[in-house]
Amino acid sequence: MSGLRVLVTAGGTREPIDPVRFIGNRSSGKQGHALAEEAHERGAKVTLVTTTERLVSAGIDVVGVETAAEMEKAVLDQGGSADVIIMAAAVADFRPQAVAPEKLKKAEGVPRLVLEPTPDILTSLAAVKPQGQTLVGFAAETNGLHANARQKLVKKSLDLVVANDVSSSGVGFEHDTNEVVIITASGIKKDVALADKRAVASAILDAVLFHRSQP
Ligand code: CTP
Repeated sequence: MSGLRVLVTAGGTREPIDPVRFIGNRSSGKQGHALAEEAHERGAKVTLVTTTERLVSAGIDVVGVETAAEMEKAVLDQGGSADVIIMAAAVADFRPQAVAPEKLKKAEGVPRLVLEPTPDILTSLAAVKPQGQTLVGFAAETNGLHANARQKLVKKSLDLVVANDVSSSGVGFEHDTNEVVIITASGIKKDVALADKRAVASAILDAVLFHRSQP
């Protein structure tokens, strides 16, 4: 992958409620980090936008972020020159509308959290996508895997979607292994059997390269 610029996002965003609390999710960042490491080993110039503190090989550019808004800014800042963008991060879909400036006190009673949607980063990326860029999204589902994944592919104008059924054992959030189906905009479907996340990363990059080799 020498000569290719690859931007990967990893981990779950944290949306603050007050200075000590946040809304988060179970993403560990392992699949995103494995993608960044595999692309780096294959010779790509890799930027990793991550919410986690995981160790990263020297030579990978790391941008640390916490919220969906910070991730969107980092990705839009870095994404223009990327040949491949892989949104492996579990971005919160909703965040508190207002962040309390001081810690909410129990004595003040149960807080009413009003949520608002976060920006959809893939949709923002698709809107400014340069010619020749490959946009890859993930779909973490608990039912209707293929139908939901295809819907996301179309709705978010993706080139490839990597879908996993996170209700299966050993799959997705927090595990060291994953089992995915990769679906391309041209209708190709590839099942990747349960394997460690580095092997799954390798299969995803193979699919990206195959997609890029097609006229
Ligand atoms: N994503 C994004 N911006 C968001 C939320 C998600 O770019 N605000 C990206 C994720 O990184 C992932 C893909 O969109 O690559 C799928 O995310 P998901 O939450 O499964 O999709 P949604 O469209 O939010 O659908 P759902 O109703 O299933 O949550």
